[in-house]
Amino acid sequence: MLNQLVKRCRPLPADATLLVLGAGFSGSRIASLARALGTRVITTNRLTDDSDPETALCFDSQLGRLPSPEQLRGVTHLVSTIAPERDGQDPVLRCLGTQLLDMPLQWVGYLSTTGVYGDRQGQWVSEMDPAAPTQERSKRRLGCEQAWLSTGLPVQILRLPGIYGPGRSPFQAIRRGEIRPIDNPGHVFSRVHVEDIAGACLHLIDRAASGLRPTLVNVCDDLPAEPAQVQQHAAELLGLSLPQSRPYADAVDSMSAMARSFWAEHRRVSNRLLCEELGYQLLHPDFRNGIRDCWEQENLNPQGGPAARAA
Ligand SMILES: NC(=O)c1ccc[n+]([C@@H]2O[C@H](COP(=O)([O-])OP(=O)(O)OC[C@H]3O[C@@H](n4cnc5c(N)ncnc54)[C@H](OP(=O)(O)O)[C@@H]3O)[C@@H](O)[C@H]2O)c1
Repeated sequence: MLNQLVKRCRPLPADATLLVLGAGFSGSRIASLARALGTRVITTNRLTDDSDPETALCFDSQLGRLPSPEQLRGVTHLVSTIAPERDGQDPVLRCLGTQLLDMPLQWVGYLSTTGVYGDRQGQWVSEMDPAAPTQERSKRRLGCEQAWLSTGLPVQILRLPGIYGPGRSPFQAIRRGEIRPIDNPGHVFSRVHVEDIAGACLHLIDRAASGLRPTLVNVCDDLPAEPAQVQQHAAELLGLSLPQSRPYADAVDSMSAMARSFWAEHRRVSNRLLCEELGYQLLHPDFRNGIRDCWEQENLNPQGGPAARAA
C-alpha cells in the first residue's frame, strides 16, 4: 500500500522533477509514490483532459502528439513504461530522443521485460545471463533496451515479469467463471506486484544517487509459481471453487497465440541483485501476500478493505 511504501522510500532531491512517460498501470503507481514523497512529477498519457496542463501532458507517438521542450523544462529523472512500436523502434527515443539529450537527466529508468531472457527450461536467470529472446516481441524489446543504453544517458533497465496488482488480478475472472486452471506441474512463472515496481524504482533512483547504478536490474518477487497456484489462492480468498483443472496438453490447442507463447517459455527470474545487493525490501515477496493485498484493495474482503480496518 502506498503509505507503507512512503515509509520505506527516500524522497528524490528537493529540486528534482520526475517525468513518467506512460502513466498506465505501473507508471501511475510510480508517479503516485513519488508525489507522496514530495517530488514534482509530470506524467504523460495518450489522452488527457486540460485539468492539469502543467503536469499531466499528452504524448502519443503514433499521432505525433508530443510534449514541448518548455513543458519538460526542469526534468531531472525519467521513467519510460512505453512498449516498442510494431517496427521495433522505441517510441520515446524516436519522438523525443533529441530533446532528452538536452535535459539535465540524472537517472533514466526503462521498464523492459524478462522475456528478453527467452526460454530457460525452468532454470534461474540473473542479469549476468546473456539475453536470448525467442519471441519476436522480446527481440524488439531487447533492441529497445540497446537503443536506450546507446544514448549515453544515465539509463537503468528494469526487467519485469508478469505484472499484477489491484485492478489486474484474477478475482473478477474467477467470479465470472472464466478461469479453468491448467495443470502443468512444475511450470512456474515469475511475477511482480505493481507496488513493488514503484518501490523498486524509487529505491533504484536513491541507490543511483549514491553511485550504485547497475545497468540491468530484475524487478520480481521471491517465489516463481504455477498460475494454477495463484488462481487457487485467489479462489480460496473468495470462498469459491475453481473448475476441475485440465492437462496442459489438452489445453494448448485451444489457446490464443499470446497464451501459447507465454507457456512456451519457462524460467525462474532471480531478484538477488535488487533485494540483496541493492537492498530493496519487497512489499509483496510472494503471490500469497500480493494476491491478498489485491483482495483487500479491491474491497473483496468481507471484513472490509484496508480503509475499513484503518478506521
Ligand atoms: N503486463 C505485464 O505483465 C508486463 C510484463 C513485463 C513487462 N511489461 C512492460 O512493462 C511496461 C509497463 O507495463 P504496464 O502494464 O504498466 O503498461 P500499461 O499499463 O499498458 O501502460 C503503458 C503506458 O504506455 C502508454 N503508451 C502506449 N502506447 C503509446 C504510444 N504510442 N505513445 C505514447 N504513450 C503510449 C500508455 O498510454 P495511455 O495511458 O494513454 O494508455 C500507458 O500509459 C510496458 O512496457 C509493458 O510492455 C508488462
